[in-house]
Amino acid sequence: MSEPLPQQHNLDAAFEIGNQIIQGDFPDNRPEILKKISQLDWATRSAEPFHRFLFAWAQRIKPKLIVETGSDRGYSGSHLALGWPSARVVSIDIRSVCSDHLNAFHHPNVETITDDSLAVADQFEDNSIDLLFLDSAHTCAHVSKEIELYVPKVRAGAVVFIDDIAMDGEMTRAWKGVAYQKRSFRGLHNTGFGAFQV
Ligand SMILES: C[S@@+](CC[C@H](N)C(=O)[O-])C[C@H]1O[C@@H](n2cnc3c(N)ncnc32)[C@H](O)[C@@H]1O
Repeated sequence: MSEPLPQQHNLDAAFEIGNQIIQGDFPDNRPEILKKISQLDWATRSAEPFHRFLFAWAQRIKPKLIVETGSDRGYSGSHLALGWPSARVVSIDIRSVCSDHLNAFHHPNVETITDDSLAVADQFEDNSIDLLFLDSAHTCAHVSKEIELYVPKVRAGAVVFIDDIAMDGEMTRAWKGVAYQKRSFRGLHNTGFGAFQV
């Protein structure tokens, strides 16, 4: 049996950090490379608050294993990897070019998988993931299935994050269907950002 998670790793603590970032009350202690990513274009500028949040949360909880679905250009993965460099970070994307993007950063703690996130959930042991970030296919069916397959892999009591929960009807429906204690963050991303505790 793993030890219960400390209170400062729970949903309220995540919400508090998120709000501090939104209000400009949280120090930005990211390395320069991550600050530069946030200035690349409009998409990285709008993603900056939740990318900063992922960095801060990794620093806070000192995870052993981080799993991300949806690597894309490797920007959230880089924030997770540099947030806690001792963590093993596994990032999954269905497009091989996205693994290439993330691998191009040469983070020594990152492993990439090119596959459908639903096909590889079994590669993780039950109760082993300390930080799970879901940001792959944005359909209700896919997100719901990711939650079904990945939540048993997450350490009991850990907080899971989902991006774009208010992006469209599909994602709103997916978020509505999350049957765990949950919070949505106003202002971490213009398309919504949510967290739930397993
Ligand atoms: C919104 S982007 C991820 C953005 C990234 N997390 C960030 O914040 O920098 C979504 C990514 O999910 C990937 N994707 C789409 N369907 C997928 C699936 N079934 N399994 C894994 N990845 C998928 C896409 O290729 C795309 O790169």
